[in-house]
Amino acid sequence: MIARVRKLRFHESKEKPEMKERTEASRLLMSRSEFSDMRLETLDAGPRAEDGEAVFRLGRFALTFNNVTYATFGDALGYWDFFPVGNSGEAWGLLPVWGYADVVESKVDGITTGQRFYGYWPTASHVKLRPGKVGNRSFRDDAAHRADLPEIYNWYQRTDDDPFHDARTEPLHAIFRPLFVTAFCLADFLAENDFFGAERVVVSSASSKTGYAAAFCIRRHSDIEMIGLTSGGNRDFVESLGLYDKVLSYDDMRRLDAGTRTLYIDIAGNSELQADLHEHLGERLVYDCSVGSAQSLAPPSPRRDLPGPRPEFFFAPNWIAKRHKDWGVSEFTRRSGEASAAFFGYVTDNALVDLSEQSGLAAARDVLVEMIEGRTDPAKGHVIVL
Ligand SMILES: NC(=O)c1ccc[n+]([C@@H]2O[C@H](COP(=O)([O-])OP(=O)(O)OC[C@H]3O[C@@H](n4cnc5c(N)ncnc54)[C@H](OP(=O)(O)O)[C@@H]3O)[C@@H](O)[C@H]2O)c1
Repeated sequence: MIARVRKLRFHESKEKPEMKERTEASRLLMSRSEFSDMRLETLDAGPRAEDGEAVFRLGRFALTFNNVTYATFGDALGYWDFFPVGNSGEAWGLLPVWGYADVVESKVDGITTGQRFYGYWPTASHVKLRPGKVGNRSFRDDAAHRADLPEIYNWYQRTDDDPFHDARTEPLHAIFRPLFVTAFCLADFLAENDFFGAERVVVSSASSKTGYAAAFCIRRHSDIEMIGLTSGGNRDFVESLGLYDKVLSYDDMRRLDAGTRTLYIDIAGNSELQADLHEHLGERLVYDCSVGSAQSLAPPSPRRDLPGPRPEFFFAPNWIAKRHKDWGVSEFTRRSGEASAAFFGYVTDNALVDLSEQSGLAAARDVLVEMIEGRTDPAKGHVIVL
């Protein structure tokens, strides 16, 4: 994908001035077995487009724990397969990120230099894609190695024909767009199933952006009671969101009234917490919806003898594909776009996110290490510009 490597292994956290990342081609590789071990490579040149291909230069992308979870599920769900590393074998991977990139070379009809696209990119300054189904608004990367991966990740949206795009809001959009669509779909899925008969929803990792976006979306469907569970240190932050009826720290989970029919949205992916909750609520736990693994660097492994319902994994791309069929793509876009505008209004009016925009792939590595080590302030919104 990317041309020859000039310098290898750049582990120290301080950026070297001579790296000149802004003008050179570079990429950040992550060890697939030890995520905090990353290496920044500078390359002689970026890739060149062949017929049917276009080269993109990554301009701005967000980092949230969701990206770390791509690494966690890299092998199990194929996240390392989107952007193959080439001759580094199975040891290193390019972590997928969401954000914006500009076309710098194109040999594809309908894709021209200077166009900016939103989508799924590797942590690399440049990437070569094979745009297919090129329309006025979007294209799909038809590279053979992506054909069997979930289709939703393969679509790229042009920013100049996107009613929701605004250069000023790009950083916030880069952060929330993939998380909000999950939250929108999750709330839609639960409402469609009448919350499985629950009287109360309990959300773990309630401080996560996916978690509180889900709380916001659920509120639009129902006034069901919502409890946020979070780490002791994040409790004040979760209370300040104003989206949960009550906030408990993990240590206080057993203070939940055990007689109330409860639906669990598991974003933490903490198997011990899950087992405690199942034991505490027993048959009153009506549904366990497994969404994330914000507290784990390994895919969650629920205890086999859990009392109550078996956890069910919620995978947003599958629900999006279903709604695209049920409603049509443009109606899905209209409904999710309208909800997302309301959510962005809420986030901005209440100043929920403290944006931190940094420059360069070395800064991206430092942010990722901070997340992996559990030192990230939930109020921060990390954005990297290249
Ligand atoms: N199934 C799907 O389709 C789907 C789609 C989108 C996101 N997700 C998942 O949702 C999860 C949240 O993602 P996000 O991007 O919204 O996260 P985020 O906003 O970056 O929030 C991260 C939160 O996770 C907890 N946390 C993070 N690192 C930790 C550590 N090392 N030790 C303990 N707790 C830690 C903290 O919450 P607490 O203190 O409150 O626990 C923290 O506020 C991810 O696992 C993501 O993959 C799933």
